[in-house]
Amino acid sequence: MYLIKLDGLEFLDIYRHKHRQFYSFSATVYLKKMEARNILCFVAIVAFASCDELKLAKDLKFKLNDGNLMPMIGLGTYQLKGSELIQDVLDKALGAGYRLIDTAKLYENEKEIGEALKVLLPKHNLTRQDIFITTKLAPFELGGKAYESLKESIKKLDCEYVDLYLIHWPGDFLSNASDDKNGKNRIKSWELMVKGVKDGLAKSIGVSNFNIRHLTELSKNDHGIKPAVNQVECNPNYPQIELKEFLQKDKTLMQAYFSLGGTGNQNLLKNEKVGEIAKKLGKSPAQILLRWAVQQNIAVIPKATKQNHLEQNIDLNFVIPEEEIKILNSFPQNKITPDPETIA
Ligand SMILES: NC(=O)c1ccc[n+]([C@@H]2O[C@H](COP(=O)([O-])OP(=O)(O)OC[C@H]3O[C@@H](n4cnc5c(N)ncnc54)[C@H](OP(=O)(O)O)[C@@H]3O)[C@@H](O)[C@H]2O)c1
Repeated sequence: MYLIKLDGLEFLDIYRHKHRQFYSFSATVYLKKMEARNILCFVAIVAFASCDELKLAKDLKFKLNDGNLMPMIGLGTYQLKGSELIQDVLDKALGAGYRLIDTAKLYENEKEIGEALKVLLPKHNLTRQDIFITTKLAPFELGGKAYESLKESIKKLDCEYVDLYLIHWPGDFLSNASDDKNGKNRIKSWELMVKGVKDGLAKSIGVSNFNIRHLTELSKNDHGIKPAVNQVECNPNYPQIELKEFLQKDKTLMQAYFSLGGTGNQNLLKNEKVGEIAKKLGKSPAQILLRWAVQQNIAVIPKATKQNHLEQNIDLNFVIPEEEIKILNSFPQNKITPDPETIA
């Protein structure tokens, strides 16, 4: 593993793939930001890496604050139900190059995903280690049930360990939102999730829908492990600028959900300005919305069932110029999911 950090490079990783023996090059690099001396270094590194195989975009991985690597683009599976559909979508997704699957106990599809992967990994010449599985602790199990719930998810997914386990929501759905019990349950869950890491049940742990207050409180009781990821609603209508800045303190990665506005909501995909930028750059509106996130080092997990959508969403190897980014950053604020601010 080579981790190279140069001024002007936001992220640069070159690592050797243990199994296939090729170098995979992954970077979120904005060449125009680089100084001349860094361009020389960069060229040298690329020349070195190109002895083998260079892969861009689809293979991009983020290095989490615990050292584990996580694909930048994953497949969301909320509302993906039924063995046949799941098998079909995962088959297409693995074929298109997806290596991260995002699920949750709440989605009630862990078992079907586990069953599909048993068939599909060999079909695509992949092993468990080649893919990254995220699942989440259900809000109604927040607290003392976290460890058992993690074990249940692993059993359903039939996968020995998960790559990332998240607290789905800062509240427990059972107590009043303003009840202090929510905070106590978050801390208890975290303690048990840390045990899950130590026992090899989860490679990384993180949170979802946590605001700055929830994160600050957790940092005082983190048992030596900081959240690797905070998965939150994030798109040009809700860019989470303050939260993203705060997360940098602990190198917690922001992972966006609802990048396309959520299933059944066409507001962003049909937005006139997004459409104009897409036309100008020869991309689809979905690609613009996803690249907007990835370009600022925000991971994405778009859900798609259609082949052309799956292929587009992982094909983000282009740059949105600064002028167009400014347009996307000037969208009115409009949050879709409930605000976690209400949770004590
Ligand atoms: N942590 C949390 O609290 C939380 C909350 C919500 C979601 N999530 C996660 O985030 C994932 C993403 O959110 P989401 O699934 O609700 O919504 P989304 O990814 O924003 O949007 C999915 C919708 O966009 C459509 N779509 C996908 N690619 C497209 C393309 N290239 N062009 C046009 N339409 C396209 C899909 O249609 P087709 O299916 O027809 O392709 C689907 O209707 C979820 O699946 C879940 O894993 C997490």
